[in-house]
Amino acid sequence: MNILVIGASSAIATAVAKRYSERQACLFLIARNVSRLELLRQDLKVRGATRIGTHVLDLLDHEKHEAAIDAAIQFFGDAGIDLALICHGSLPDQKAVEKDFELAQREIDTNGLSTVSLLIRLAPHFEQQGHGLLAIVTSVAGDRGRQTNFVYGAAKALVSTYLQGLRGKLLPSGVHVMDIRPGLVDSPMTQQFEKGLLWSSPELVAEHIEKAVRRKRDTVYIPGYWRLIMAVVRSIPEAVFKRLKF
Ligand SMILES: NC(=O)c1ccc[n+]([C@@H]2O[C@H](COP(=O)([O-])OP(=O)(O)OC[C@H]3O[C@@H](n4cnc5c(N)ncnc54)[C@H](OP(=O)(O)O)[C@@H]3O)[C@@H](O)[C@H]2O)c1
Repeated sequence: MNILVIGASSAIATAVAKRYSERQACLFLIARNVSRLELLRQDLKVRGATRIGTHVLDLLDHEKHEAAIDAAIQFFGDAGIDLALICHGSLPDQKAVEKDFELAQREIDTNGLSTVSLLIRLAPHFEQQGHGLLAIVTSVAGDRGRQTNFVYGAAKALVSTYLQGLRGKLLPSGVHVMDIRPGLVDSPMTQQFEKGLLWSSPELVAEHIEKAVRRKRDTVYIPGYWRLIMAVVRSIPEAVFKRLKF
C-alpha cells in the first residue's frame, strides 16, 4: 500500500505509520522537524516499511505545498497514492487567541487553511488517478463551538465542512474522503491536561483509523462512543449551551 503521511511526526500519525509499516507499506512522510523525521524513518524501516521517502516542510508555508505534493507523487510513480493522511495540528491557548487576531489567524491556518491548501493540490491528483482515500484528522471540537475552545473548533469545523463537499465531488472518480474525529487523545498536544476515563492512546486511535480506512467510512468518531457524546452535545438547546462553562 502506498501511503502519504502529512504531519508525520504527530503522535497519531506516527502510530498509524507504525501499523502500516508492519504490513510492508511504502511511505512518504512530510513533517517540519528534520531530526524527528529521520528518527521516524529509521524506526519505520526496522518495522518493515518497504520504501520510505521524507520531505521537510513547515505546513504554514503554503507556497511550498505544491512542491511537497509533487515530490510525493513522483516518489510513488505510476502506482499512485492509495492513502493520504493529513494529521498536523496545534491546540491553541483559547484566552490568548480570542484577543489576538494574528495568533488566531495562525491557529486557523495550522488547523484549517493549511489542510485546505494541501487538499487543493491533492484532490486533482487523486481525481486523475481514479482511486485512493483522503483521510483527514479533524476533531470532535468542530462539532460545536465551546466557550473554552472555539478558535480551534472553528478551524476544525471549516475542514469538516470542506470535506463534506469534496467527498461528493470526488465520488464519481472513485476517490474516497474520510473525516476522522478523535475525542480526547493522550499526545504531546494535550500533555498539560489531567487524563481520565474518556482519554485514548494514539495507538488505539491508529487502530481505529486503520479499521475505518479498510471500511471506507465517511465520518468516523474515535473511539465510537464520541459519536453519541457529540450527538448529545449538539442536541443541547443554544439557550442552555451558551451558559455552559466548558
Ligand atoms: N490530542 C487530541 O486530544 C486530539 C483530539 C482530536 C483531534 N486531534 C488532532 O489530531 C491530529 C494529531 O494530533 P496529535 O494528538 O497527534 O498531537 P501532536 O503529537 O502534538 O501532533 C501535532 C503535530 O502537528 C505538527 N505541526 C503543527 N504545526 C505544524 C506546521 N506548521 N508544520 C508542520 N507540522 C506541524 C507538529 O509538528 P512538530 O512535531 O514539529 O511540533 C506535530 O507533529 C491534529 O490534527 C489534532 O488537532 C487531537
